[in-house]
Amino acid sequence: MKIIMSTYDVEGVKQSLLEKVAGSDSPRDVLKAPEIRELYGVIGSLPAEERGAFGKQVNEVKLAVEAAIEARENELESADVVAIDVTAPWDVNSAQPALLPTEQGTQHPLTTELENVVDIFTRMGFEAVESRQIDDDHHMFGALNFPEDHPARDGYDTFRTEEGFIPPAHTSTMQHRILKDGKAKLEAGGQIAAISYGRVFRNEDVDATHEHTFYQCEGVFVSEDATLGQMLGTLRSFFETYYGQELRVKTQPAYFPFVEPGLEFAIEKPAAIGGKPGEWLEMLGCGMIHPNVLKDAGIDPTKYRGFAWGGGVERLVMLKYGIEDLRHFESGKLAFLRKFAS
Ligand code: PHE
Repeated sequence: MKIIMSTYDVEGVKQSLLEKVAGSDSPRDVLKAPEIRELYGVIGSLPAEERGAFGKQVNEVKLAVEAAIEARENELESADVVAIDVTAPWDVNSAQPALLPTEQGTQHPLTTELENVVDIFTRMGFEAVESRQIDDDHHMFGALNFPEDHPARDGYDTFRTEEGFIPPAHTSTMQHRILKDGKAKLEAGGQIAAISYGRVFRNEDVDATHEHTFYQCEGVFVSEDATLGQMLGTLRSFFETYYGQELRVKTQPAYFPFVEPGLEFAIEKPAAIGGKPGEWLEMLGCGMIHPNVLKDAGIDPTKYRGFAWGGGVERLVMLKYGIEDLRHFESGKLAFLRKFAS
């Protein structure tokens, strides 16, 4: 059969191919359509003098189909994106929606108070390091003189990841690092004086005085002649500065494997905020660093002595502002947060 070029409807084939592309979810498949193969077949069957011109037309069809495929692919890709109405009126002076104007946003009260705490200790000469939010068994227990399988480990209601990592249950996990880092300074005749602050986590039932996530601040001091008296002076000085008034303080014995002796430090609730004489508030745990903890960090306990303390930050802030429920801090409630807007 001899096909006469003028009788072959190239334009019609092109239109039908473009329609197929436009309606297809996989437009590239149209390149394999029988019409295309047919067009190439036709070239071969034409008389030699017509082939060049016809081939050119076929090539144009192919280019048009390819361009349409690309356009269709782009269209499919952006199908999920809502198109911007570029014809909508645009008023640069229009008001913002009444959500949260940036000038009303405030720093979280815990951040502000933590900055206060860190400031006071740095003015006293302590270096400040943020604590880790993921740690290991060694820093949580081993390096802190908790014997294997000791029941004191259970007292910390520790979360664990499947891999065995620990979101620290107290900032004491930083003690070993602070001691190791400060060893050279100590041996060069200096002292170790550092605080560590940050988030800690405990698997506890949440109520007005217990949270699974809270903040602690920890202090570590080591020198050749550190004493318990120095520690009590340091803590009293901190609390009096933080609350801006003189305070009565007391201690009572407590057990923590990483200090010996171990103490609980309490302040008398000031009358100015409704405290009655003899109303003691336990603020933190403290004591002289256990020789095993120093030894573990490579510090000779026969030459050096230290003290450490650690306690919750929320408790400090609650007392300062008369906040009755610990859960407010992590609640994200604007009514609560706005009370601290300055
Ligand atoms: N890490 C202890 C706790 O969270 C507190 C503490 C710190 C006690 C340092 C003694 C020394 O309960």
